[in-house]
Amino acid sequence: MTDTTSSPDNAAQPGKAWSGRFSEPVSDLVKRYTASVNFDQRMARQDIRGSLAHARMLARQGIIAAADLADIERGMNQILGEIERGEFAWNLDDEDVHLNIEKRLTALVGDAGKRLHTGRSRNDQVATDIRLWLRDAIDTILALIGEFQRQLLDVAEANAATPMPGFTHLQVAQPVTFGHHLMAYYEMSRRDAERFADCRKRVNRLPLGSAALAGTSYPIDRESVAAELGFDEVCYNSLDAVSDRDFAIEFCAASALLMTHLSRLSEELILWMSPRVGFIDLADRFCTGSSIMPQKKNPDVPELVRGKTGRVNGSLISLLTLMKGQPLAYNKDNQEDKEPLFDTADTVIDTLRIYADMITGIRVKADAMLGALSQGYATATDLADYLVKKGLPFRDAHEAVALAVRAAERRGCDLPQFSAAELKAAMAEVPGAADRLDEDVFAVLTVEGSLASRKHIGGTAPAQVRAAVARARAQLG
Ligand code: ARG
Repeated sequence: MTDTTSSPDNAAQPGKAWSGRFSEPVSDLVKRYTASVNFDQRMARQDIRGSLAHARMLARQGIIAAADLADIERGMNQILGEIERGEFAWNLDDEDVHLNIEKRLTALVGDAGKRLHTGRSRNDQVATDIRLWLRDAIDTILALIGEFQRQLLDVAEANAATPMPGFTHLQVAQPVTFGHHLMAYYEMSRRDAERFADCRKRVNRLPLGSAALAGTSYPIDRESVAAELGFDEVCYNSLDAVSDRDFAIEFCAASALLMTHLSRLSEELILWMSPRVGFIDLADRFCTGSSIMPQKKNPDVPELVRGKTGRVNGSLISLLTLMKGQPLAYNKDNQEDKEPLFDTADTVIDTLRIYADMITGIRVKADAMLGALSQGYATATDLADYLVKKGLPFRDAHEAVALAVRAAERRGCDLPQFSAAELKAAMAEVPGAADRLDEDVFAVLTVEGSLASRKHIGGTAPAQVRAAVARARAQLG
């Protein structure tokens, strides 16, 4: 036990906002364990903004004097400068960002500083700070998704007619264009952006005024604070406002999905860059060499994106678990919301920044893509569809083409390398198939013919890919 008799005025936690109530100080370990200032100082600007809006409202409502407000504004201005210049002395003894700033304010302006916390609690204060912080993070993320999308669209447009194998089960399935493949990721990112924009609506509600949990007896005006801070509305239940962090969980869920999409793209970049596949090359600035194998060029950046998706998924689970057992209203558990949240935002922001640049650094090896297409009977479905259009039932057409593929396998060639007579012979066992086959079959058996025929909305025809890019550009504005 630490000696308590040495503290002045019988206050066992001298300097603490609650010192009068306690008879012994906390140990250094408990102090370190309970403090959040090392990480929540990131919200200092938001804390000051929120405090100033609160103080102005208190003055408007006649709860504090105009002179107190002037002192608070002057003091906060100085504190902001100190923080910007890196001169602010953060102190673990003052636990968190809120108490650190309030203590400094009081040191600078005296009693006015002590009046700031009237009608407020750290519980509604911290909930407000996080929401302000997260709103900024979401705006940054939305802008970066837009940037990523613009780069993606440029590469997709340039490759609107570049054939590559489309895969299912990682087996060559049908021809697609590289542009069409990239546009799949555009669609994913569009939904990601929608999710963040939607989440922002629920982030952008003001908890301040809820005080500790029950509201406050002062004649406060919450709407005016909401308006000053740019919130769309106030939170309508004080218990809910100080305790729930569902908005942060939503943000982490949206982030986990975005990272999942980028992780899939990363996996493809890694695969495509493997010399065994060789569809693309990535700019050197996103790769590293090996310290032992001189020939290596490793796709480190996409690998890390794939890897960092794990920590973002982990943060989502952390926050869900953090919340699930908490009775109303505020519990200190909630202090644990910040590190996963900050880490998630940092990871998403860095990943998007790096990705926008990396996309433009893709060098497409069109010959390798085309070469791979000739190895998997990629136009077999087109041959079946051709027979169906000539009146053969689909199941018979499927069987006829399967026989043709077997013949091609035996010969070691691709379907378009057969003559019409050879194709007819290959499918002779299926009644009605050979009679329906003509020289015009080669128009659909080629990769270009196959691509061009998928010309509906959402199809891979180069014209449709260009239309998709144009539509996307219009969406982006
Ligand atoms: N540092 C705290 C947090 O992050 C601030 C709120 C503290 N409230 C309290 N009643 N102890 O949640």
